[in-house]
Amino acid sequence: MTQAVVTLRWMNESGKQWLEMIDQTRLPAVFEYLSYDSAQGVAEGIRTMVVRGAPAIGVAAAYGVALEALQLRNLPRAEFDQRLQQGFEVLAESRPTAVNLFWALNRMHVCWQQHGTADAVTLSDELLKEAKAIHSEDVDINLAMGAAGAALLSDGARVLTHCNAGALATAGHGTALGVIRSAVASGKRISVIADETRPFLQGARLTAWEMVQEKIPVTLITDNMAGHMMARGEVDAVIVGTDRVAANGDVANKIGTYMVAVLAHRHGIPFYVACPLSTIDMKIARGEDIPIEERSPLEVTGYRDCQWAAAGVMVRNPSFDVTPAELVTALITEKGVIHQPDMYKLRQLFS
Ligand code: MRU
Repeated sequence: MTQAVVTLRWMNESGKQWLEMIDQTRLPAVFEYLSYDSAQGVAEGIRTMVVRGAPAIGVAAAYGVALEALQLRNLPRAEFDQRLQQGFEVLAESRPTAVNLFWALNRMHVCWQQHGTADAVTLSDELLKEAKAIHSEDVDINLAMGAAGAALLSDGARVLTHCNAGALATAGHGTALGVIRSAVASGKRISVIADETRPFLQGARLTAWEMVQEKIPVTLITDNMAGHMMARGEVDAVIVGTDRVAANGDVANKIGTYMVAVLAHRHGIPFYVACPLSTIDMKIARGEDIPIEERSPLEVTGYRDCQWAAAGVMVRNPSFDVTPAELVTALITEKGVIHQPDMYKLRQLFS
């Protein structure tokens, strides 16, 4: 299967190593890679959404740790450990909602602990190996989810998606868009309805771009058109990604997802969530306990240089919302499809 979009790439030339990430703040107008060589730099890339989407954030954070370790590798181990810990902390503070960030940092931390007595050079090599493993595993997981989820879509299905859960949000293939890609690759004629996804416009800028690149038919709508389209019988299924699923199956995803789920329920349309196991947080019992990021009011009052809202207006900008498990038809995971997810079914997934 071709992987059209390489969101993150590890570079190694003339003895120098660094990370490159597509600048997602400038797509689709400008396609450009930015270079990173430290944890601080990668954390800034995550915070400013150069890289975004839960799995991609996790992969970026893992590389952030590896980059920091490479920078510190000539230090005595005690100083190396102290400075690396600061790298972990700065990465952990970059964004709060996507649990993949903390999941990836935890894996890197375990790798660090496992090499307790190694010198800093050996440890930094091991950390880079672990980051590369997280990167390549993510593509495999997405392909497995794609295969599991494609069977849920019928030939000719018109599938609505919200935000961008595509190759750009992952190491490749995508979660929600990965299911669509896999269904198309299996010969089904699928068309996509992309919610614009205010205020950051991931749907208009990123999902639409990915689908146009691959010639998968895509129609862009503004977020407030979804109910109308469903009421007219123009949507057969909804597939979204997720940033964190609580132990009871509640799903945090991009702001506006809850609205789409309620509408889908009202119209009897299946609402699917593509969800790698790394996005399930068994330590959080219910969706209401998931930390929800609040972003800058400037994302709501305008876009780039254009300000349309009255100066001085009060603004809220929660970046995610929670869809209760009862509205989720199924979670699509790399271990298969979990219909009507609940606490018991999620526990079984990890047993
Ligand atoms: O704020 P973003 O763009 O990082 O939010 C992304 C989403 O909400 C995605 O739907 C989610 O991370 C799943 S990505 C496979």
